[in-house]
Amino acid sequence: MKEKVLIFDTTLRDGEQSPGASLNLQEKVEIARQLEKLNVDIIEAGFPASSPLQFEAVRQVGDESGKIVAGLCRAVEQDIKRAHEALQNARHPRLHTFISTSDIHIMGKFGHDRYGRTLEEKRDRIIRMAVDAVSYAGTLADDVEFSAEDAGRTDPVYLAEIIEAVIAAGASTVNIPDTTGYTWPSEFGKRIADLKQRVSNIDNAVISVHCHNDLGLAVANTLSSIENGARQAECSMNGIGERAGNASLEEIVMALKVRGDLHGFYTDIVTEEIYNTSRMVSSFTGLIIQPNKAIVGDNAFAHESGIHQDGMLKNRQTYEVMTPESVGVPQTTIVLGRHSGKHGLKARLNAIGHKVTGDELEKVYERFLSIADKKKEIYDDDLRVLMGDELNKPLEPLELDYLHINSGTASIPTAAVRIKAKGTTYEESSTGDGPVDACFRAIERALGIGSLLYSYSVRSTTAGRQALGEATVRLKDENRLYTGRGVSTDIIEASAKAYLQALSLRHQEEENDKNKTIDKGI
Ligand code: KIV
Ligand code: ZN
Repeated sequence: MKEKVLIFDTTLRDGEQSPGASLNLQEKVEIARQLEKLNVDIIEAGFPASSPLQFEAVRQVGDESGKIVAGLCRAVEQDIKRAHEALQNARHPRLHTFISTSDIHIMGKFGHDRYGRTLEEKRDRIIRMAVDAVSYAGTLADDVEFSAEDAGRTDPVYLAEIIEAVIAAGASTVNIPDTTGYTWPSEFGKRIADLKQRVSNIDNAVISVHCHNDLGLAVANTLSSIENGARQAECSMNGIGERAGNASLEEIVMALKVRGDLHGFYTDIVTEEIYNTSRMVSSFTGLIIQPNKAIVGDNAFAHESGIHQDGMLKNRQTYEVMTPESVGVPQTTIVLGRHSGKHGLKARLNAIGHKVTGDELEKVYERFLSIADKKKEIYDDDLRVLMGDELNKPLEPLELDYLHINSGTASIPTAAVRIKAKGTTYEESSTGDGPVDACFRAIERALGIGSLLYSYSVRSTTAGRQALGEATVRLKDENRLYTGRGVSTDIIEASAKAYLQALSLRHQEEENDKNKTIDKGI
């Protein structure tokens, strides 16, 4: 008998907690639409109490989606209320409440005497807080998930006690996170088997797992827990998330599918949508996929050596355990160009997961034509970058009005820039170590700021001399990272645009902060 494993996607919540990966509202909504096509079972859309933007994202995704939409909340009434408010119009809302259960976390995060003086007292208090949170959430929604944060390092007897208590209080899903990615596959599997034995009411809830990848074991731990009774896997596209990330959705799903001969598990994921989803997430977050990444990396289906190529020509199964088609890697390249019409562009955007209509289509088409004027052939990856750039526009952008560069092997690189913001113009010039450095210095002088540059990279979206250059600039300010992206056939111009976009996003976040209720970090 085959058994289904629910796929709980946390790209928009834990995934977005990847350093420098903040997504704006439109990007989140767009990714949620693509997750729906991918057919995940649950979309965790964000942490509503953490900021107005998170609230709005959960609200919009909940309003639109036919899937279960989860909102994260600490085990405190005000967070749960906020998550419930955000999900008020969702067809299938889930309140996902969590509290730390390991001694390290309890002593570190609940050290104050008001939570009890001894570890024993604090543990009791945590159970009461968890039960109160689940009971309260149950008065607002039918679907309540409880997570025991740092369950991977929690005393098994205590873990069983708290899990039994929250199920009795009404939790329909109990999540066992390996928050620090510390556990070993057989150990983590045993932890799940142990809960099935110790917790008398365990059959009244779905066991979920949420594994982090600090030791590169997140997927292995997830699979081991499924073999031992877990029936919900929390994961993210491309494995993005806090620190080294979460278990990667595509790896869990394809491992279950390809090795279905070993076990009886399946998921409802439309695997042919994996590639589009992966590219969309990468392009919106600016988190580049390593070429050798399983399933979705550029080299995942590339066969380099002569022996391999020969084998592949004779029989693809010699070196392929799954086909590129099965995960949606396109086998033919469709190219657009200057003469492509709006309908052609719209159809291509649709095929790669972007539904664009009305005014938005007009704007994108205009940009498409200006790029097509400089670059003869426009590929899917160019369109992804273009869409990422469109959706990442800050509300009040610093716009590059003019850029002049003088550079060469025998001259000192010099840049002059003119920037427009809210009707004001800023102009300056500077020399630098190279044309990009000169350009960044000119921007800093024009805006009267110091350098906040944390990292800078440029990549071409496709091969060839006319390729679009995509520059990514990360700024670091008080431990926060702001990512800006710029696209152009001229990489200096792309770099200047990326720097200005990151600065605009920083300004926007400063404005958002004024209304912020609690810290984003968990
Ligand atoms: O890693 C973790 O423990 C989490 C929980 C909030 C589920 O992200
Ligand atoms: Zn996590």
